[in-house]
Amino acid sequence: MATWALDPGVTHLNHGSFGACPSEVLEYQAGLRSEMERNPVGFMLHTYQPALEANRSALAEFVGADANGLVFVPNATYGVNSVLRSLEGLLPSGAEILLTNQTYNACINAARVTADRVGGSVVVADVPFPVASPSEVVAAVLDAVTERTALVMLDHVTSPTGAVWPVAEIVAALEPEVPVLVDGAHAPGMIELDLAEIGASFYTANCHKWICSPKGAAFLSVAERHREYVRSASVSHGYNDGWPDSSTRFHAQFDWTGTDDPTARLSVAKALETVGEHHRDGWAGIRRSNHELVIEGRNLIADAVGLDRPVPDEMLGSIAALPLPAPTSAGESIFDELMVDLHHNWKIEVPVFAWPEAPARVIRISAQQYNTIADYERLAEALHAKLR
Ligand SMILES: Cc1ncc(COP(=O)(O)O)c(C=O)c1O
Repeated sequence: MATWALDPGVTHLNHGSFGACPSEVLEYQAGLRSEMERNPVGFMLHTYQPALEANRSALAEFVGADANGLVFVPNATYGVNSVLRSLEGLLPSGAEILLTNQTYNACINAARVTADRVGGSVVVADVPFPVASPSEVVAAVLDAVTERTALVMLDHVTSPTGAVWPVAEIVAALEPEVPVLVDGAHAPGMIELDLAEIGASFYTANCHKWICSPKGAAFLSVAERHREYVRSASVSHGYNDGWPDSSTRFHAQFDWTGTDDPTARLSVAKALETVGEHHRDGWAGIRRSNHELVIEGRNLIADAVGLDRPVPDEMLGSIAALPLPAPTSAGESIFDELMVDLHHNWKIEVPVFAWPEAPARVIRISAQQYNTIADYERLAEALHAKLR
């Protein structure tokens, strides 16, 4: 049973941004840190690699991936950057990297840098929002593919708009001719995953969001046909001598990227176990109850404030976005005035994004095991007061 370490004086409706880690997992991580500091050399040279392998196996099983193609990275941004950097030597001049209008900003930046370096360009598919069905997403992405498309970058669960996209269908239409990099930052722990079935060339995702691991744990899964050339954005010992002790050359590129605190990734199996025990039906129960709660919360807020529901229930995981009326004075900052006001004056943590661009904006709620319907009632009350 997970005990949440969250401040009870705050209404936490933004699990999506940085997750939240149960006390039991944090204590486990603290234990690992103490062990490491009692004998740093012994820990790094002898304890680290077997512990990493155990966590890799548990995670690979959880997401339905081949452990031989799965490596830990500190976050999804790093996973995206590693794939893009690895492709730079291979993409022809004029190559197009296809993103969407709902791609996460950090990943747009990473793709732009790669496109500039190879003399190519970034192409943006305009995926409808509000969206009525998964087939609208498939059509919008496939329509934007050209002969020059060298990589498609696709979110599994979109960040500003909170929709689960049919990535398996899009991958099936494109691979292996056009490789797809799925940014599944939110997916593990939120929706059921079978990476082998999705079959993308590259899939990166966070453990620190919906698996609730400590922060700094994420993974990159690479299809066998690409493992030869993919390496970490931070090139280290694994490039030539394979230290420390990795079982494959591909693993060696990522298992050691320079000294860091490895305890977050070494606590992933503990998080899978602890959070999984929180619900009597295990992870399936957690996913289902979070999904049901976010729909209930979204409907409550939409009804109370008079907002449209832009995504059908079957395209939701456990985050949901609602378009808000434009503010009277719109700033360029991502820290929307309303979000700052809810933080300071209502003690509600909830993101408000200027999307697709200011002054238009959306508010995005999350549902995790520590939330109750009272949290959404409180947000509805605040929004009602603020938007009147
Ligand atoms: C779709 C998407 N990609 C990437 C990220 C970045 O995650 P991180 O900061 O852990 O790299 C996020 C974070 O919210 C996201 O929603």
